[in-house]
Amino acid sequence: MTRISLKRCLFALFAGFLMLCGLACSETPADHEKADDAVTIVFKHGKIQGDAEHFRQLLLRFEKENPGIHVTGQALPSSTDEQHQFYVINLDAGSADFDVLSMDVIWVPEFARAGWLRDLSALLPEAERRDIFPGPLKAVTSNGRIYAIPWYIDAGLLYYRKDLLDGVGAKPPATWGELVRLAGEMTKGSEDIYGFIWQGKQYEGLVCNVLEYLWSHGGDVLEDGKVVLNSPGNIAALTLMRDLIAKHRISPPLVTTLVEESSRHIFGNGRAVFMRNWPYAWNIFQRNGSPVKGRIGVAPLPAAPGQPSASTLGGWQIGVNRNSRHPQAAERFVRFITSRESQKTMALTIGYKPTRRSLYRDPDLIRQQPFITGLHDIFMNARPRPVSPYYMMMTQILQPEFSAVISGIKTPAEALASADRQIRHVLGVER
Ligand code: GLC
Repeated sequence: MTRISLKRCLFALFAGFLMLCGLACSETPADHEKADDAVTIVFKHGKIQGDAEHFRQLLLRFEKENPGIHVTGQALPSSTDEQHQFYVINLDAGSADFDVLSMDVIWVPEFARAGWLRDLSALLPEAERRDIFPGPLKAVTSNGRIYAIPWYIDAGLLYYRKDLLDGVGAKPPATWGELVRLAGEMTKGSEDIYGFIWQGKQYEGLVCNVLEYLWSHGGDVLEDGKVVLNSPGNIAALTLMRDLIAKHRISPPLVTTLVEESSRHIFGNGRAVFMRNWPYAWNIFQRNGSPVKGRIGVAPLPAAPGQPSASTLGGWQIGVNRNSRHPQAAERFVRFITSRESQKTMALTIGYKPTRRSLYRDPDLIRQQPFITGLHDIFMNARPRPVSPYYMMMTQILQPEFSAVISGIKTPAEALASADRQIRHVLGVER
């Protein structure tokens, strides 16, 4: 044996000894703690809308308060459908590449059932549960256990140009008919401004939009577990959506390509009278330099005459990957990022709305965003999409059918009958 290879051999033996020692030592609870005290946890979340610097500051604050735990925030695309795809592929493969994840309100039942999430019941004491809006709380609960902590809440809102409505002495419309009339009158003869924009691209956001029309026409997708898509209320609702583009012409054909951010840009540049969107857009419109700063209002969405206004419940929840190698540190971070303080900071800076109801009485928040008090009731009444581990299958059926209607390819009756048949099949419901 040459001198070099002998040296190599000794080195390998020494390294092997160290490795064995490391493995054996890491079995003791004290060392688990130590390992968790000096770790990096990876937090995956959707793209932060608005000013992401505030969000970075929040992560830095956590690190300062928790010496020894580093948190790396990693943004995924803002599209919920694309994020869902990422998680299904990685969680199904048992990935431990990320510890903490933010989840759309519609995924938690599916992820919990698949066994991909840690049980976080201990992080949400009973008293705190009572303070959380009932919609998200229900979505994160499976068999009495909590699998994620509600982080921020969303509901569909009607944004309107207050300056333009005030100019003609009009109030925000309470019915869809009034919205059509007002938008038509206010854009007559003008090429520069659209009447009403919303999210019409074929994706999850379209389903959120359509449901608001179905519900505000007395329709629905499921009733007591039965598929009830093929109904006169639903046909009227989809007919109206199609007519907004093809007949009333208050929504341009380009709405069939819009998502939240693209519609927010159009409205934010002063190019629409009305817009349907989630609450986050308000803070962005009020920033210095925004062309619509101080010129917008927010109201509940309109309804058909005699029907209640309906908003789709949205929002994001924080969970811990079942395969996380640093569960204690991850849970500590979940407590921090979903806490009352963090939710208040996020509401004030980024504009994401708290899931904790008591914050809607917070004087600082009310002073800076007076409309937040009105949002409380909208969030209380926001309607969930079907809370089911099979929701993603349902939406994948609904998305192309709804899209075909608003693009004028199928009639509402055809699309609804087809979606009704397919969802019955998926849910195994006999006719
Ligand atoms: C928002 C909502 C989410 C919804 C998505 C649709 O992110 O919070 O619940 O699924 O928009 O685009």
